Amino acid sequence: MRDKSIVRKISQGMYILTTVGGGCCVDAVSQISGGDNPLIGVAVMKKNYTNKLMKDNNIFALSVLGEGIDPKIIINFGMKSMRDYNKFESVGVEEVEGVNVIKGSLGYMVCEKVDMIENDTHTLFIGKLIEADKFSDGKEMTYGYYQEHKDELVKVVTTSGKTAWVCTVCGYVYYGDSLPDDYKCPICGVGREMFKLKEE
Ligand SMILES: Cc1cc2nc3c(=O)[nH]c(=O)nc-3n(C[C@H](O)[C@H](O)[C@H](O)COP(=O)(O)O)c2cc1C
Repeated sequence: MRDKSIVRKISQGMYILTTVGGGCCVDAVSQISGGDNPLIGVAVMKKNYTNKLMKDNNIFALSVLGEGIDPKIIINFGMKSMRDYNKFESVGVEEVEGVNVIKGSLGYMVCEKVDMIENDTHTLFIGKLIEADKFSDGKEMTYGYYQEHKDELVKVVTTSGKTAWVCTVCGYVYYGDSLPDDYKCPICGVGREMFKLKEE
């Protein structure tokens, strides 16, 4: 492939995907069809705990993030795993159709899962919209906006003696003197060459 980075020019939004028992930050969301019963697709990495939860449940929600979202919500849902941390403890949520939606978001879409498509790394879950509401009229955050602002949004604080390597694709931070040779970002899967040393 000559330059796969052009794929990142596809405009995407920023969402918190939730289902019963957990959820994670996602940008791989698309409206598959409009009309009276829209279909919405969301791709979830197989290594994410949310992938298993999405297979175990029939309902999921997407909360739409605005540019003014508290960045802690992105860190909470996008850089931690429900396997070892309860993401809902520190975030304001409201239950809709049995699923938590994020109160600080612009609004939500609740879907009933109707299909799944597997590839080697991800599962594409397709849902039919069954409920939706708007909380506020703010400007939605695009993935491009997140990319441009991730240094301020996902602040990296390095204390002396601690070296931070920041993933230039998703903003994940690895602390350590050097990155292991075969290191891959646990969030977006890119190799060590995509990490940048964060100067103090
Ligand atoms: C900006 C951003 C975008 C992300 N987009 C996706 C995505 O589209 N699909 C996905 O599966 N994971 C995505 N992630 C990664 C998951 O949110 C992350 O791996 C999360 O910690 C998984 O949590 P879990 O193990 O509780 O499911 C994204 C993370 C960030 C920070």
